Amino acid sequence: MHIPVLLQETLHYLHPRPNENFIDATFGEGGHSKAILERNKPLGKVLGIEIDLNLYQKAVEKYEKEKRLILVNDSYVNIKSIVNEYNFGSVQGVLFDLGMCSWHIDASGKGFSYLKDEPLDMRFNPRQELTAFEIVNYWPFPEIEKILREYGEEKYAARITKAIIEHRKKEKIRTTGQLIELLRKILPNNYDNHRLHFAARTFQALRIATNRELDNLYQGLSQALEVLLPGGRIVVISFHSLEDRIVKNFFRESYKNHLGNILTKKPIRPSAAEVKENPRAASAKLRAFQKI
Ligand SMILES: C[S@@+](CC[C@H](N)C(=O)[O-])C[C@H]1O[C@@H](n2cnc3c(N)ncnc32)[C@H](O)[C@@H]1O
Repeated sequence: MHIPVLLQETLHYLHPRPNENFIDATFGEGGHSKAILERNKPLGKVLGIEIDLNLYQKAVEKYEKEKRLILVNDSYVNIKSIVNEYNFGSVQGVLFDLGMCSWHIDASGKGFSYLKDEPLDMRFNPRQELTAFEIVNYWPFPEIEKILREYGEEKYAARITKAIIEHRKKEKIRTTGQLIELLRKILPNNYDNHRLHFAARTFQALRIATNRELDNLYQGLSQALEVLLPGGRIVVISFHSLEDRIVKNFFRESYKNHLGNILTKKPIRPSAAEVKENPRAASAKLRAFQKI
């Protein structure tokens, strides 16, 4: 079960009130949406967008009785066209809670966890062609090295890429288990002084590249700002510095273009109590913006 991160802080900045409409651009297991639906009763609606077909199907079953919730299996890069298609007007707020759900790690079987041996897939959207398998086994050296360096902030990017290329000449790397074994052989025993699992950065880079997460985020934010009512708010929860930088710059740029105000001078971090209860919250940062 996914525990929603920074829930009270999200509600504070999104500020849902009776009869207002909201978009949850990353529905997941619906934790944040459920709390919004409690507050925008009796007539307010939530449009929940979820790109993962499995999670979407689970949500449709779980929230069957919730008539004020509209669920869509699509990407938030299409917010504008989804809003038009569903005639979803008067949008008072848009929430982005980025990255994966606990389900992706615990039960999806799609290779998101470096603690499991699963096929190298990592796609949120199963209809998409690009997989982590494709990247690892077919992309040329400079491209793999670049994503490890940029999306993983991995200082051993070149060493890892070289090892991947050598390995795949002999045998394809089909599973996360094979990739982890390869990394174990070439990375130092005291990788990052044991602060981080030695495969964490490589896995993060592959997931971001497979799902084109950073390009998507910029597009999603731009469209969210367009569909909002004046006075409406965007709240974004991010989990690593690259995402946070995109959000910070997007909000700054929008402020300079007189489109609204930044509500969070510094990013909001979870309390120690929240991190204790939900370690996944540790790296979370929340930023909010209000359209003029
Ligand atoms: C951190 S989870 C959201 C958790 C949710 N707030 C909750 O409380 O259950 C992020 C979700 O966004 C989904 N997602 C990722 N990229 C997406 C995209 N481009 N469009 C829509 N959903 C996306 C993922 O599949 C994942 O389920």
